[in-house]
Amino acid sequence: MSERIDGAPSWLYDEFQHAGVDYANLEVARKYESRHLKFRDFDAEFERIRERAALKRSDVVLDLGCGTGAFAIPASRYCAKVYAADVSAPMLGLLRQKIAERKIENIETFAAGFLTFPTFPAPVDAVVSSLALHHLPDFWKVVALKRIADALKPGGVFYLSDVVFHFPVETWREGTQAVLDEMERSAGGEANAHIAREFSSFDWFLEEAFKRTGFAVEQTIDDAAFIRVYVCRKK
Ligand SMILES: C[S@@+](CC[C@H](N)C(=O)[O-])C[C@H]1O[C@@H](n2cnc3c(N)ncnc32)[C@H](O)[C@@H]1O
Repeated sequence: MSERIDGAPSWLYDEFQHAGVDYANLEVARKYESRHLKFRDFDAEFERIRERAALKRSDVVLDLGCGTGAFAIPASRYCAKVYAADVSAPMLGLLRQKIAERKIENIETFAAGFLTFPTFPAPVDAVVSSLALHHLPDFWKVVALKRIADALKPGGVFYLSDVVFHFPVETWREGTQAVLDEMERSAGGEANAHIAREFSSFDWFLEEAFKRTGFAVEQTIDDAAFIRVYVCRKK
């Protein structure tokens, strides 16, 4: 365990100890961006998120599992303030390097995750999280969603994009294999570890979890065969 919030119970899930891909490893963090840039366009992704979540220039946005800043950097050019949190020191280090090089003044970074991000001075307008929530087992995902709801203003938006399973449970073997094949085809590298050691959920589990943590799902979009986006509103 590398970091712990003061006063946290000893049984709190240790989100700093990574499952699956080892984002605490500097080499993995360095390769992450160059590999992802082969199949992602971070500015175009930001535009999509901005439109779908109806982000405004005055918004204060929290990016959870921010990585090297795929969202935080373009968001900083549009939104008033971006809080960017991640449990990986190397990923956050690369983001901090970009912030310094580009003299960005409106991103504040936190070495913290879904279960440990701090209370902010005021509730935020929006929370965005891409490809990160699946690092938590389901019980802790629900705790994370509750913490996200608590951090948001009433009516605030939560934009979640992640690997979500939406095949019938009866076909779990073929369904999982199809996801794996598609991930390998389009993203490469981490597909096997994602399935074997990380915690993607079924769509129906997440949808129930949103309801129980005070969110209404306003849009459900499949950005790829295995990537689902939920645009949720805090009730
Ligand atoms: C696949 S990367 C996604 C990074 C970025 N959001 C993007 O779209 O490129 C997953 C990120 O989630 C972070 N992560 C893993 N567990 C986390 C947790 N419990 N809380 C916050 N971030 C976490 C990892 O360190 C890593 O930076």
